[in-house]
Amino acid sequence: MAMPASPTSTKSGASPIKPFTIKTTQTEVGTQSLLAVLSGLVGASEKLEAENLRPGGRLDVLSRQIDQGQWRPVTNCAMWSHFIVLGTPFFNLFAGVVQSSELITHCTRSYHTLPSKSYHIMLRTYRGPCDRRASGRSARDERERPSLSQGKDNTMATFYDDWLAAGERIQEEFRRSPMIAHDRNIPWVRTRQDAKVKLMVANELGFPTMGGCVLKAEIPVGWHTGRHVHGEESLHILRGRGFSVIHDQRFDWHTGSTLQIPYRAEHQHFNTGDEPALYLSAMCLPLELFVKLGSLEQREDCGPNDSAVLAAIPEQESQFLKDGRRAVIHLEQAPTDQSYHPHRHLAAVQQQHETVRYLVVPANGFKATSVAMTFMFEDPPYHHSGRHKHLEAMIYILEGEGYSEVQGRDEHWEAGDLLHVPPAMYEHEHYNDSPHVCRQLRIQFGIRYWFTDIWPEGYTAQRIYDNAGQPITAGAIQRERNPA
Ligand SMILES: [Fe+2]
Repeated sequence: MAMPASPTSTKSGASPIKPFTIKTTQTEVGTQSLLAVLSGLVGASEKLEAENLRPGGRLDVLSRQIDQGQWRPVTNCAMWSHFIVLGTPFFNLFAGVVQSSELITHCTRSYHTLPSKSYHIMLRTYRGPCDRRASGRSARDERERPSLSQGKDNTMATFYDDWLAAGERIQEEFRRSPMIAHDRNIPWVRTRQDAKVKLMVANELGFPTMGGCVLKAEIPVGWHTGRHVHGEESLHILRGRGFSVIHDQRFDWHTGSTLQIPYRAEHQHFNTGDEPALYLSAMCLPLELFVKLGSLEQREDCGPNDSAVLAAIPEQESQFLKDGRRAVIHLEQAPTDQSYHPHRHLAAVQQQHETVRYLVVPANGFKATSVAMTFMFEDPPYHHSGRHKHLEAMIYILEGEGYSEVQGRDEHWEAGDLLHVPPAMYEHEHYNDSPHVCRQLRIQFGIRYWFTDIWPEGYTAQRIYDNAGQPITAGAIQRERNPA
């Protein structure tokens, strides 16, 4: 979380040093009430209140933008990018932070489109050394008026009070956040990299991730994506035929292929088939940005293929990069033997699905670290998964329809949707309650295992048992879970 630093001096150098103070207010409101809440908090400074509430002022404009379904965030705040910071010209005086309770269905660099007029508001007021000067309030006014940020015992609240409240705030975020990205609700956008792309799960969309993100993109017939460089990426071809160039090596793919792009490896994808190519991509760019290692370098934009360029690209020689790492596996090559499971010794991974196909796992020659599309699950009609709990995972629905029960919440999904299991050790179970086969793609983010290593007794995946002490394993939905 972005913690305000303790200032060491004011700009004029004349005022006494005062630490930043913090107040957090949480509520759930509609648009008009949102305006009132913002007004109340900004009202901590009469001068700012007048500035923001006048017709055409900041809050007036904000309210109209929300009513029109569009919201222009004033700035971004990295790892907390699903929060929108307001009032940045007065950042050291006031910053209102707002989190949507609904899935934000469209995101570009500067616009968010919100699907409903109900917002979960978490506003945090920062009051720093300049607030008295900017508000015109005297030192005596400050003494006579109780501070917004005074602690319970009338002492000044500090960063430590904020830390004390952080755990419950995160749990509340888990309870309120969306778990499903519904494909049908997310519009396509165009970027320099992709002619059609939709960000599905990311922090800025309200999902409390551990720093990963997942997007879906389409390469038109006869087109290529942009050519760029960033962190590690795992990629699954949902439909189509073509090839990728990774580190100057060509790797062919078709529907069902999974590719692993190493950290900082230049890459580009070419559609050479007769239909649009659709792919799912998972990366850790938000985490990399948070730790100040993020970088995205665009070296060529997406566009139509040049036949001369295509002809000059050598044929594929191997499914492995020259350094020995595997780059691609086709679904028909994927083994189903559980000996390929990297955590096969854990009870929590036993009997979880009817069939598991192993994709980007070490036993297949991959060396994924921060992100990997590890498995494909296949379950017959009217079949449920085993029940277990673990830190974060994401499940993309390739085929079928059903729902997942996650810590008491039933989340319906269908082909094209993406389930985010939050890093909350929530018990969960997946139900294919349809007459069709269900196929799911499981996405793993390596930061989960970094924390599991730190606290294995708390974060290791655990199998769930019923009241009779029997493990809840995959099987027909009609089973009796809790016999009398
Ligand atoms: Fe799971």
